[in-house]
Amino acid sequence: MEPLGAIVLAAGLGKRMRSAQAKVLHLLAGKPLLSRVISAIQPLQLNWLVVVVGHKADEVQRLCGQPGILFARQREQHGTGDAVRAAREHFAGFSGDILITCGDTPLLTTDTLARFLETHRARRVTLSVLTVELEDAGHYGRVIRARDGQIIKIVEARDASTDERTTREINTGIYCVKADFLFAALERLRPANAQGEYYLTDIVAQAVAAGLPTQAVLTTNPHEVEGVNSREELATMEKTRQAHLRRQWMSLGVTLEDPDTVYIGEEVTIGQDTVIGPNTQLKGKTTLGIGCRIDGSAYIENCAIGDGAHVDFSCVLRDCELASHAIVGPFAHVHAGTVLAPHAVIGNFVEVKRSIVGEHTKAKHLAYIGDTEIGRDANIGAGTITCNYDGFTKSKTKIGDRVQVGSDTTLVAPITIHDDVYIATATTVRHNVPAGALVFNTRQEQIREGWTAAKRAKEAARKK
Ligand code: UD1
Ligand code: MG
Repeated sequence: MEPLGAIVLAAGLGKRMRSAQAKVLHLLAGKPLLSRVISAIQPLQLNWLVVVVGHKADEVQRLCGQPGILFARQREQHGTGDAVRAAREHFAGFSGDILITCGDTPLLTTDTLARFLETHRARRVTLSVLTVELEDAGHYGRVIRARDGQIIKIVEARDASTDERTTREINTGIYCVKADFLFAALERLRPANAQGEYYLTDIVAQAVAAGLPTQAVLTTNPHEVEGVNSREELATMEKTRQAHLRRQWMSLGVTLEDPDTVYIGEEVTIGQDTVIGPNTQLKGKTTLGIGCRIDGSAYIENCAIGDGAHVDFSCVLRDCELASHAIVGPFAHVHAGTVLAPHAVIGNFVEVKRSIVGEHTKAKHLAYIGDTEIGRDANIGAGTITCNYDGFTKSKTKIGDRVQVGSDTTLVAPITIHDDVYIATATTVRHNVPAGALVFNTRQEQIREGWTAAKRAKEAARKK
């Protein structure tokens, strides 16, 4: 088989996005547009994959780079033809086919590309372009065919005649071209068009004029090859993608109580018989186990949630791990590398950060647990605060197994509370406590009978 290279064009400004960020870094279902295109191309057994970057190049390379991908720089954006030319240095001595795609068509699938390559190879043509028919061809390049159906050229909407503009068959921006012809043809491009750019599309007319075998391959799935050029197009695509992801997870046995209000990121996975309530957002690399319950209004990002875990109403969970049957919420905030062991319970208005909470340990009401490691079967009373920050450094708190922390306890870190300790209500603990001890503050409460009446009388006298 002929060697195969690929070029992905991702240097454009994306003017119509009106963004300080490169267009190809905008997210669809939480994944950058360009990364999605790369994921579709990678399984095709390529010898080379070159991404052409320009606008915000460093950021694009940082966020979308991975082993095996080469980058080429297009310093100034003079059009799609100029962009492909920028990749030339990586193809010195390469003879074979080059697949070209745009970085802004994120719904592209490996399947469609594979089929396109197959017809290109089977028919032994110099140039193939993938096309599609749209109800509304909008600003896409129009595919112009001769009477016999043979493609003659591609004309951009703004350069097209009124007659040409009525054509419903458009250029998807996906091509497969013999390398020798491609790079020679690029040298002959002229920016004689409305935008004054070097159009890659003009190589089609060149191939036809040279009598080289050229074909337009019509695909039947218009959604797959849609390009993102504006925020509105991105939003429309997101809506379609979300509907697809929701259907996919429901078909795999997940219950979505009010599907239209659930957001599911591309890299999220959800186990069977998990039930997800309304207004839930599942983002990043989140995984939900089997039989979990997410009651609703939850924001969950980059979390690993074990089987049978329960996230009660209105919680924020980020970068944390919930083992099986852990319970969180309602109204809890669990974040920054926290690990909850099986059956741990984090309740109302509790914040947990960078902490490990042991098996069957509970913190059910109004607490802050930070930089803390808690053993198993402990109970953290309402209003407990771990004072992990003295204004300069963060320090650790360790709480052993079966410790009972009374309500309104203040634990001043660094501190270790060993196993089986009892902490009396409203204690400020500043020193380590040995196993099995009781700890309480000695200042006893004072009761002054009749104090209120005396105070009121005094105030009344003052006002006269
Ligand atoms: C392009 C095609 C059009 C096709 C459409 C499909 C041309 C002239 N037009 O139009 O026929 O219907 O795609 O989506 O090719 N880019 C660069 N450097 C540049 C210019 C663009 O790398 O100097 C990249 C962009 O980052 C983008 C891709 O090329 O990923 C397409 O550019 P865009 O400006 O979106 O072209 P369209 O107007 O959509
Ligand atoms: Mg485009």
